[in-house]
Amino acid sequence: MLEVNGLRVSYGGIQAVRGISFHVDEGEMVALIGANGAGKSSTLRALARLVNPVGGNVRYRGKELLSLPAHQLVAEGIALVPEGRGIFPRMTTSENLRMGAFSRNDKQAVERDLEHVFSLFPRLAERAQQVAGTLSGGEQQMLAIGRALMSQPKLMLLDEPSMGLAPIMVQKIFEVIRTVASQGMTILLIEQNAKLALEVSQRGYVMESGTISLTEESAKLLADPKVRAAYLGE
Ligand SMILES: Nc1ncnc2c1ncn2[C@@H]1O[C@H](COP(=O)(O)OP(=O)(O)OP(=O)(O)O)[C@@H](O)[C@H]1O
Ligand SMILES: [Mg+2]
Repeated sequence: MLEVNGLRVSYGGIQAVRGISFHVDEGEMVALIGANGAGKSSTLRALARLVNPVGGNVRYRGKELLSLPAHQLVAEGIALVPEGRGIFPRMTTSENLRMGAFSRNDKQAVERDLEHVFSLFPRLAERAQQVAGTLSGGEQQMLAIGRALMSQPKLMLLDEPSMGLAPIMVQKIFEVIRTVASQGMTILLIEQNAKLALEVSQRGYVMESGTISLTEESAKLLADPKVRAAYLGE
């Protein structure tokens, strides 16, 4: 579904992503793990066209992603849930969710999907009329994922959904990620919490200083002593 070849991202003189290649097949959940500053978010931002890569190409469902206009990505089925969430703080929960469906005009299906998001995250249903800026961190993360789902994505790009959340909240959010994945969603997941990421994904890539140093089935990465020492705190 997604095939990345030789992707490069630079900020001025800093090369954050140094020609990486990887792929995500339809229906797969793939994890991208690595230390702070390894270039994970830059990779995702390049795929979501929030930064312009300086090299490489990306095939997405048979199209050259980097030559599509950035505003077309949502319609193409790509949804980014960014690090730091990016919700609209002055709008209510329900308004935020509807914003996720802005490119759709199938009103009835939008209402049905809204109910679906509320069933995945009952907490959001209880807070439908609450201004999003006053939601807790975990609730805002739920909202960001819910809003992405409202665009009916084919590929979700998740940047550190567990960041800054208490274990119970992380557990809830990952339950939903698993549910969504089991319903056939294709997911590229970035996580600082490598253990969790490798537990829920099928395959993983390890990023180090802008390059991919290792790729394997997630279960094998989890068992790899080098990975355990470097990323699982053992
Ligand atoms: N807008 C920017 N301008 C300049 N440098 C940047 C910018 N964004 C990222 N960088 C640099 O690029 C490198 C990769 O950053 P990136 O955010 O992709 O890392 P990351 O793997 O997501 O790290 P983390 O786990 O801390 O989120 C870092 O050295 C960072 O300082
Ligand atoms: Mg990051």
